Amino acid sequence: MKIDLASHVNGSRLWNSLMEMATIGPGIAGGNNRQTLSVADCEGRSLFRRWCEDAGMEVSVDQMGNMFACRPGEDPNADAVCMGSHLDTQPAGGRFDGVLGVLGGLEVVRTLNDLGVRTRRPIVVANWTNEEGSRFAPVMMASGVFAGIRSLEDAYESRDKEGKRFGTELELAGWKGAEQVGVRKFAAYIELHIEQGPILEAEGVDIGVVTAGQGLTWLKVTLSGRSAHAGSTPMSRRRDAGLGAARVVNLVNQVALDRQPNAVGTVGRLEISPNSTNSVAGSADLMIDIRSPDSAVLKAMEEQINQGIRSIAEELGLECEITRVQYAEPVAFNDECLRAIRQANAALGYKSRDVVSGAAHDAYWLSRVTPTAMIMCPCVDGVSHNEAEDISPEWATAGTNVLLHTVCTISGAVD
Ligand code: GLV
Ligand code: MN
Ligand code: MN
Repeated sequence: MKIDLASHVNGSRLWNSLMEMATIGPGIAGGNNRQTLSVADCEGRSLFRRWCEDAGMEVSVDQMGNMFACRPGEDPNADAVCMGSHLDTQPAGGRFDGVLGVLGGLEVVRTLNDLGVRTRRPIVVANWTNEEGSRFAPVMMASGVFAGIRSLEDAYESRDKEGKRFGTELELAGWKGAEQVGVRKFAAYIELHIEQGPILEAEGVDIGVVTAGQGLTWLKVTLSGRSAHAGSTPMSRRRDAGLGAARVVNLVNQVALDRQPNAVGTVGRLEISPNSTNSVAGSADLMIDIRSPDSAVLKAMEEQINQGIRSIAEELGLECEITRVQYAEPVAFNDECLRAIRQANAALGYKSRDVVSGAAHDAYWLSRVTPTAMIMCPCVDGVSHNEAEDISPEWATAGTNVLLHTVCTISGAVD
């Protein structure tokens, strides 16, 4: 049967799969904790592999653990069209961030199977390893290796809080595949994702056409002072890394506030040592996340933060070390892919608008090597990176319908 305007995905099957995946690695408040290469992440991967195989796809895994499920096309020499996102979550993450893009891709393939639609190009559904970057920094790690942004060796050396090495954990978990990273060539990459912001819901819009994404920088900061007795060490004789950390948090906030509305700055991770009530902190480790759609603004923020940290350290008698662990330029998505998405929206009668992504996505790095664009659906109150993250089945279905029609256009649905 030919794909036509009446072709829709099976929304209840999609929703059931989303809900089944959400039972793996439950959080404590209705969301998920399926951090990269945890037991839960591995269980989620296995379930995804089984579902893909049941849908007739062959699943390959590369040396970063990226999973590629392939539905053959009529022309075996044609580059595939890839859909995907990530199954790993934040420590207190939602059920849909990333998962919708992966299981939405699977639902597209299941729908093509139901309808007996063949495509000229092969179709691939990808699950990118460690998009979140919360257990192993940085964010979008394995898609970054795929796109040649960082080396495999560098990624393997990333360590979690317990000092466990990514490369070793990948091997132990059994998810280090044989395929060389980045050898696959795609004709296009289309990522469906929840908005993670409030605009679409507030405006009653079904679909966001993501034309661009803001850039981001991650800085790792270590402040070293001297641990001391909280009772007997006079205030004038302290080298308090905890105080330094507090000032850095405030600095990052101020640097972003000074550049409204086009900048955000966050210290989402802070560890002080020895972290004991009656000890002055001897050291502090912070992770800084700054973002802007304007690369000049982003660079100026980084410079100001670097200088500010050095002044704080000098004033408080601390040593400081600042390492840039991630830098991603703002990204503009591909016009041809955006045209296919807009065409699908119009054909399906969805209300849509252009949006700039505030969050980072694997699509950022894919856009360096493949024509890429993103489709977004609303999420309740714009809440994400929070277990309360929520979407409606109708939103998920609409986004996946757009994904279906977009991919059929690009892959050349033949009948
Ligand atoms: C990914 O979730 C990010 O935007 O950091
Ligand atoms: Mn995501
Ligand atoms: Mn996320």
